[in-house]
Amino acid sequence: MFETWEELEKSIIDCKKCKLCAGRTNIVFGTGNKNADVMFIGEGPGADEDKQGEPFVGKAGILMNNALAGLEIKRENLYIANIVKCRPPQNRVPEKEEATVCLDYLRNQVVLIKPKMIVLLGSTALKNILGDEYKITASRGKWIENKEILYFPTWHPAALLRDENKKIEFWKDLKEVKNKAKEMELSI
Ligand code: URA
Repeated sequence: MFETWEELEKSIIDCKKCKLCAGRTNIVFGTGNKNADVMFIGEGPGADEDKQGEPFVGKAGILMNNALAGLEIKRENLYIANIVKCRPPQNRVPEKEEATVCLDYLRNQVVLIKPKMIVLLGSTALKNILGDEYKITASRGKWIENKEILYFPTWHPAALLRDENKKIEFWKDLKEVKNKAKEMELSI
């Protein structure tokens, strides 16, 4: 565990802890406010994220940005990261081994940020953070408290591209996140 961002960022530059390093253009470390009250965690970089080195800048990201803007949630107030920091080939779900080794970095980021709330975007984020026993269909839209952090699972933005109903639920979920954050006087 590193105590500074500088050390943590340095430690990942040449990461070869799993086979995803072979196909990457950029490591997508995470972006946003390093003192964020609210963190968003996705699955892993897609093609656009791999090219640009930033999370959620592709199609799914634009959809998420539109929802954030519509609800007046400022992306710059959040910290956004993924379960894995290198793009899985063909955007497949990260394998357990890949997620497990990469999670050390994400855990370190969480320790440095100290968020009060973490929004889990989709099943991969939910299962890797809270445990395999959690199902996204049953858990979405519900608060789960664990070690003084409030977790809120919702759909992955890419799922909204395939299902209009999920768009409505995603919007409703983000509204709930905003209301709760306001109630707790968190910056969002
Ligand atoms: N999907 C994710 O899970 N993360 C990204 O950064 C982009 C797409």
